[in-house]
Amino acid sequence: MRIAIAGLGTVAGGLLALLRESAQNLAVRADCRLELIAVASRTRRDVDLGGAEFTHDVLSLAGRDDVDVIVELMGGEGLALELVERALTAGKSVVTANKAILATHGDRLFALAERHNVALGIEASVAGGIPIIAALTRSLVANSIDRVTGIINGTCNYILSAMSDQGAKFEDALARAQSLGYAEADPRFDVGGVDAAHKLAILTALAFGVPFNKAAVYAEGITAVTPDDITYARELGYCIKQLGISRRTAKGIEMRVHPALIPLDSMLASVSGVMNAVQINDQATGALLFYGPGAGGRATASSVLSDLVSFARGDSVIRRRQSGSAVPLLPIEAVESAAYLRIPVIDQPGVFARIATILSEHGISIEGAIQRERAIADHKVPIVVVTQPVPETAMNKAVAALQALPAVVGTVRRIRVEHAGG
Ligand SMILES: NC(=O)c1ccc[n+]([C@@H]2O[C@H](COP(=O)([O-])OP(=O)(O)OC[C@H]3O[C@@H](n4cnc5c(N)ncnc54)[C@H](OP(=O)(O)O)[C@@H]3O)[C@@H](O)[C@H]2O)c1
Repeated sequence: MRIAIAGLGTVAGGLLALLRESAQNLAVRADCRLELIAVASRTRRDVDLGGAEFTHDVLSLAGRDDVDVIVELMGGEGLALELVERALTAGKSVVTANKAILATHGDRLFALAERHNVALGIEASVAGGIPIIAALTRSLVANSIDRVTGIINGTCNYILSAMSDQGAKFEDALARAQSLGYAEADPRFDVGGVDAAHKLAILTALAFGVPFNKAAVYAEGITAVTPDDITYARELGYCIKQLGISRRTAKGIEMRVHPALIPLDSMLASVSGVMNAVQINDQATGALLFYGPGAGGRATASSVLSDLVSFARGDSVIRRRQSGSAVPLLPIEAVESAAYLRIPVIDQPGVFARIATILSEHGISIEGAIQRERAIADHKVPIVVVTQPVPETAMNKAVAALQALPAVVGTVRRIRVEHAGG
């Protein structure tokens, strides 16, 4: 099988190393030799290409008659998308790790692959080395999935773990993540929830047979989570994780990325640092947890290679799950979830009762609460409550009513509470 790689960065470097190290094993498993013909990228780095040709002309790869499979490892949307489209149209199979193009153009790209009778491999696009795409499209193909809950952004998980384990402030944890190479110089894509939204759009399409639709994912970042929130959450029996959640309800499919309180004894609570994990809840197995490195050159290249070997063996084509009938993707307003509320108030008698009344007026029951006894110097105390599940719209109205109380002297902070059942 003759391969060309576009991009010569972290993942391509891992792939080149694995191709070199395991050439013989791969030939046995794939039942053919994987031959690297060409590599294209902007910069010619000092990497051993093992005799493959190097070119700066990325798009030329799609027109080569001596290449069967294009591996797109550039990232970005413009040129990468054009290369993948041209390659598929030219009758070449494609492996890509590019979640950004899949989350938006996945339907079109899979249709293009089908039309030209070639394969599109996307194992590396979500959760790095974790084989979650194969799990959803093959191993669990017979199961009816209720819910996908993922820790799918290592940067966010590293920051929240550092805040939780070492009491670090958000800014300090982010700076440490950047110095260790876990976070980009511009971290907004990660901490703002965009990266996880891309991955969730892909997982949701495969788990529920709905379109790839990044635009329909509700995304909220972790920048407003404070060390106090983490402390109060722990007192109430929870930790805070940045989750990507897609869930089937009677009304349709929810898709949302946001920080959430999860029970300390849940499977996902034990996933810390840069590690990733995806929990699948389905009607046959109950709950499964897929855990491992969500990034890194070699780990991600493992997923790329699995697609390449699958292509060579002819068991490669991803067959999308059909949902049967059209299932709507739900807006965040249609979500029902419990909430943690941190309400900064003036320390005076009757405030807690007033808050409880407002929540009750909006049909919201309190499950747990923390009320600090003594005010700090400025007479402000936080009242913290965890509620029962309630429709998003009721919670929005209740938070607005709480915010309008004269005794409330700062922004009411709200974080959703999730019980993923595992
Ligand atoms: N890194 C991970 O752990 C990881 C995990 C899962 C998925 N992914 C995905 O894998 C893909 C590659 O990620 P990466 O971390 O390997 O990226 P990277 O280290 O930034 O490497 C990207 C490579 O593509 C080249 N490139 C980018 N834009 C180009 C253009 N317009 N024309 C020509 N060459 C171009 C870059 O050239 P220059 O060196 O000149 O910039 C570089 O060689 C992305 O889609 C990413 O989301 C990465």
